[in-house]
Amino acid sequence: MQEQLQKVTESFGQVSINPEFFNSFYEIFLNSSPEIKPLFSQTDFDKQKKLLKKGISYMILFAKETLAGKQALEAIAKIHDREHKNIKPELYAFWIDSLCKALSQYDRNWDENTEKAWRDVMEPGIKYFVALY
Ligand code: HEM
Repeated sequence: MQEQLQKVTESFGQVSINPEFFNSFYEIFLNSSPEIKPLFSQTDFDKQKKLLKKGISYMILFAKETLAGKQALEAIAKIHDREHKNIKPELYAFWIDSLCKALSQYDRNWDENTEKAWRDVMEPGIKYFVALY
């Protein structure tokens, strides 16, 4: 996991300073399933892109097993649970696939290993969202 974390931290450092990366992610994600677009019909995307940047940072901290990561992710997971946004567990596959597609467009060093690192590092956080659903 250590090597994966290093790869992801470097990759995210590169893409997250480019606002086009977040535009691309939401473009891909909203069009990845007909169930997803309506969930964001009231969303302020300027705000949402900043929140996603923070959210991904917390996903990385969660994979590092830090308390800060766990606490922050617990609060975000709650917003997604069945009593709030009601984000069904099967929708997380669209999230990670869309994230990798957007990353592949903006990470200059993108390759199979980078994709595997991202999937491995995001997995504990995604499982946590699903567990708290
Ligand atoms: C594990 C992956 C995900 C992360 C890290 C994440 C992160 C976030 C964050 C940080 C927020 C803002 C919470 C706040 O208002 O403080 C948010 C809101 C939201 N997320 Fe996610 N999310 C994830 C997956 C998903 C998926 C799969 C869906 C739907 C298919 C989804 C739908 C939403 C919606 C509808 C909102 C509220 C938007 C609004 O305020 O209008 N999220 N998410």
